[in-house]
Amino acid sequence: MDPRRPEPDGPHDGTAEEATAAPGRGRHRLSAPEPAPLTSHGPARVIAVANQKGGVGKTTSTINLGAALAEYGRKVLLVDFDPQGALSVGLGVQPHQLESTIYNLLMDRDVDPHDVLHDTGVENMDMLPSNIDLSAAEVQLVTEVGREQALGRALKRFLSDYDIVLIDCQPSLGLLTINALTCADAVLIPLACEFFSLRGVALLMDTIDKVQDRLNPDLKLLGVLATMFDTRTLHTKEVHDRVVEAFGEKVFEAVINRTIKFPETTVAGEPITAWAPTSHAAEAYRMLAREVIAR
Ligand SMILES: Nc1ncnc2c1ncn2[C@@H]1O[C@H](COP(=O)(O)OP(=O)(O)OP(=O)(O)O)[C@@H](O)[C@H]1O
Ligand SMILES: [Mg+2]
Repeated sequence: MDPRRPEPDGPHDGTAEEATAAPGRGRHRLSAPEPAPLTSHGPARVIAVANQKGGVGKTTSTINLGAALAEYGRKVLLVDFDPQGALSVGLGVQPHQLESTIYNLLMDRDVDPHDVLHDTGVENMDMLPSNIDLSAAEVQLVTEVGREQALGRALKRFLSDYDIVLIDCQPSLGLLTINALTCADAVLIPLACEFFSLRGVALLMDTIDKVQDRLNPDLKLLGVLATMFDTRTLHTKEVHDRVVEAFGEKVFEAVINRTIKFPETTVAGEPITAWAPTSHAAEAYRMLAREVIAR
């Protein structure tokens, strides 16, 4: 056993409360039903995890929602679509050591997709990793015909093998994020329960509208996920109330508390469902997974 592995909700857990469900809304923790097992797989539903604001939990949510969906027997493909490669690092991959990444899939039609596909250490979950090479794609794609559809073209061949594809977007509304929104069926927006979290959301919604209008009429808003919820402060509850006011039913009942366990999982290179399987944080992502399956 890894000596760094935490006790279930031990002293490292900053979240003493059982606030996996939205506070103050009187909802039951298990309101999203246990999903039925699948007998066959695919075609995948593609979900872009996007917010141009940095550090709101996009990568953490992509990894941990993916792992929770995989626990429910869904075949999951994670796409690291940020040149920083944080998703790849968070699953124990050293991005600079990779020979082929999502960049090669985007830019080279002859690349074998299976050369890019990477193990995540989680059963039922694979990933397409990325590294700094991807930043070149943003420049190179500008002159391409169908530049907004490049990711969609690259992912097409994977769709029949998976139930859910989760795309971890970079913190910008540039061409890479537009590519993700263009090939997605739905977008999931993580919002941190902090000052200014709603700032910039109008711009994000405006971008989603434009993509719906011009590139992908089928794009839906899957939901808004409240992250970094601090059970000890009143302020965080106020921000959460404002998010619910703004987005109503679109706000997931699952709420992700602020806890030191998430930075720990990055160091460990594994999802919270494996690192601290009985923690409230792991349970919150399982609840989110049930909601995503039900929506
Ligand atoms: N619920 C949480 N509680 C505490 N720390 C968290 C939580 N979620 C994420 N973190 C930490 O906050 C930092 C930012 O999280 P993350 O990388 O998931 O955000 P992001 O939106 O993907 O960031 P970026 O915009 O840079 O891609 C990371 O160090 C992560 O470990
Ligand atoms: Mg990120």
